Amino acid sequence: MQAHVLENQVLRYRSFGDPRKVLTLESSPLKPGPEHVLRVEMIYAPVNPSDLIPMTGAYSHLITLPMIAGYEGVGRVISAPPGMTRMLGRRVLPLRGAGTWQRYVDCDPAIAVPVPDDIPDTLAARAYINPLSAVCMLRNWPVCDRRIAVTGAGSSIAALLAQWAQADGAANVSGIYRSPQRRTWLEDLGVGPVSENDPASIEACARQADIVFDSVGGTLGSAILSAMRPGTEFVSYGLLSGQPVLPSPGARAAHRRFHLRDVLRNLSTPAWQESFSPLWPRLRAAKMPGVEIFPVEFWRDALDAFHTPGRRQKPLLEFNGVVA
Ligand SMILES: NC(=O)c1ccc[n+]([C@@H]2O[C@H](COP(=O)([O-])OP(=O)(O)OC[C@H]3O[C@@H](n4cnc5c(N)ncnc54)[C@H](OP(=O)(O)O)[C@@H]3O)[C@@H](O)[C@H]2O)c1
Repeated sequence: MQAHVLENQVLRYRSFGDPRKVLTLESSPLKPGPEHVLRVEMIYAPVNPSDLIPMTGAYSHLITLPMIAGYEGVGRVISAPPGMTRMLGRRVLPLRGAGTWQRYVDCDPAIAVPVPDDIPDTLAARAYINPLSAVCMLRNWPVCDRRIAVTGAGSSIAALLAQWAQADGAANVSGIYRSPQRRTWLEDLGVGPVSENDPASIEACARQADIVFDSVGGTLGSAILSAMRPGTEFVSYGLLSGQPVLPSPGARAAHRRFHLRDVLRNLSTPAWQESFSPLWPRLRAAKMPGVEIFPVEFWRDALDAFHTPGRRQKPLLEFNGVVA
């Protein structure tokens, strides 16, 4: 009898540019994996700015093409090396190896992160890039008794930073948002909403802040940096505007930068695994945006949903709902 050959489905890019133009969904028979890896059948992977920005060529010096897209997600182990068969059927985050925007991911068992049973798939899929970055930033720049502002306040990571800053004892948290739909969401989180279209309130917010976590850059980030007081800190960690923060010779705040990859570079494997222990309880208690699920064939719709201002849901690609 002939063995059933599984098909892998892979979202890959072979050149840099607009993700809608450079990504292609490819199907090919799944080859046997190396013996020492976990083979994971993906369930969900989110669409994050962190996935799309590299496709545009922003980090072309770090990427060798062709490249499978996707930096996080959750799946179930379908094959394991001898001696690790206890992992079969377990949900893991198959991170820091092959791209996660494919149906089957082979990953290093030492790096795969086991998911606690009570964490839903839709939360596990988003448990890495934003939560770990938020926790690392709050560790690098402690917020207790300090006045905090976050820009890009409609984003998932800003919501986590705001909630966890409050939990860590921040004196207050302001959220500078782009889309008006965000106002109520921010108020519900106990965050003071400030519109990106209100320069006077932005300046007032920047003047009172001790630490600003900025994911927008460009004109907004530059205006905030130049309005901040001496002894304060402005942390750049994203460029949602597509523009860097302009050099501001008169700036009195210290301009810091954060990138998760710098943290990972110096992390031992045990420290990597250990860094998830404090994340799970925080994630259980966090308010997160909902999700909208797209079978991988509808990846273009997922990208369109991603780009819709004011969206209330994080688009997730679904892999195991598909008949290969
Ligand atoms: N440095 C790091 O290591 C690191 C790690 C994690 C994340 N990040 C960065 O964090 C940012 C957010 O990521 P995420 O996954 O949380 O995003 P997300 O949940 O997908 O949210 C994106 C939201 O950002 C807002 N936005 C988009 N363009 C904007 C602009 N020009 N001005 C203001 N707001 C804008 C939109 O809010 P509205 O819908 O309200 O308009 C959009 O819904 C990205 O820049 C990402 O690269 C960096």
